[in-house]
Amino acid sequence: MAERYISLEAIARSYPNPAGGGSTTVFQDLWLTLPRGTFTCIIGHSGCGKTTVLNILAGLDRPSAGEVVVDGTAIDGPSLDRAVIFQSHALLPWKTVIGNVAYAVRSKWPRWSNAEVLAHARKFIALVGLSGAEDKKPAHLSGGMKQRVGIARALSLEPKILLMDEPFSALDALTRGTLQDEVRKICQETGQTVLMITHDVDEAIYLADRVVLMTNGPGAVIAEIVENTLPMQRDRHDIHRHPAYYPVRNHIIDFLVTRSKNFDVERTALEAAGMPWNARQPRLVRPGIPEPTLAPSVPTLAQRTATQ
Ligand SMILES: Nc1ncnc2c1ncn2[C@@H]1O[C@H](COP(=O)(O)OP(=O)(O)O)[C@@H](O)[C@H]1O
Ligand SMILES: [Mg+2]
Repeated sequence: MAERYISLEAIARSYPNPAGGGSTTVFQDLWLTLPRGTFTCIIGHSGCGKTTVLNILAGLDRPSAGEVVVDGTAIDGPSLDRAVIFQSHALLPWKTVIGNVAYAVRSKWPRWSNAEVLAHARKFIALVGLSGAEDKKPAHLSGGMKQRVGIARALSLEPKILLMDEPFSALDALTRGTLQDEVRKICQETGQTVLMITHDVDEAIYLADRVVLMTNGPGAVIAEIVENTLPMQRDRHDIHRHPAYYPVRNHIIDFLVTRSKNFDVERTALEAAGMPWNARQPRLVRPGIPEPTLAPSVPTLAQRTATQ
């Protein structure tokens, strides 16, 4: 069995109701394991708690129940080994582009000389296509450029775990494609373990090894996990020609369009069929690959002699 590098164990998050009295459970009894070096995407409608799950894993929020275990130890706050690319870039407005990236680099490697820090920061600024804009402050950058600084900052930490919350959603299609390629390449080269939230099904299919499907909140759960049946070596330009592409895509879209809101009905039906849904072990589905069928049973010698 694959190693449980990261595991979410029965986590839940509730918030008190604003009107007073009681609380709302955003999600509950969430179990998920992320093997080392894998790329996992979470897909689900707005409000189901994806950002909350990511923040809990980052150590920026705490679950109301359950715990997150990383490499055998329950986490207790943020760590430079777990870098986050936020949905909104979250830059320090008084620092320049290079200042923002260098600040992160310095916090990870406090013994590095100034020249080493700046050279490392420049490398990642170049990677996201922002060379020449090093001395600009966030107020003078477009939304897409700010997002790219956030990406450079997280990647510059060379973290063991990369957590991304819709990192490319604010970018134009061309920049998005380039950055998806860069992030994919870096993750493969470094063996980082990645959890990414996205609304973009094609992005998930291009990047992820597995796609976690979350039902609508409140009380959201992980309905199932889709294994990406496309080959690891895939190219964005002809990915849609692969025979597994539409089975995977249609499976995810069917979930988002209908199953995510009616999962209770599905759960009842599964229960009745003797295959109850299990929060601890969400079902793994492999669209495009036929379910294994049992070989036709050959009667045993005893059965054959009995019928003669
Ligand atoms: N600080 C908070 N106080 C109260 N409710 C919150 C807070 N943060 C998030 N929520 C609620 O939790 C739910 C999930 O939020 P979020 O994790 O941002 O969802 P997603 O990222 O899937 O869109 C939402 O309904 C949101 O209103
Ligand atoms: Mg969100």
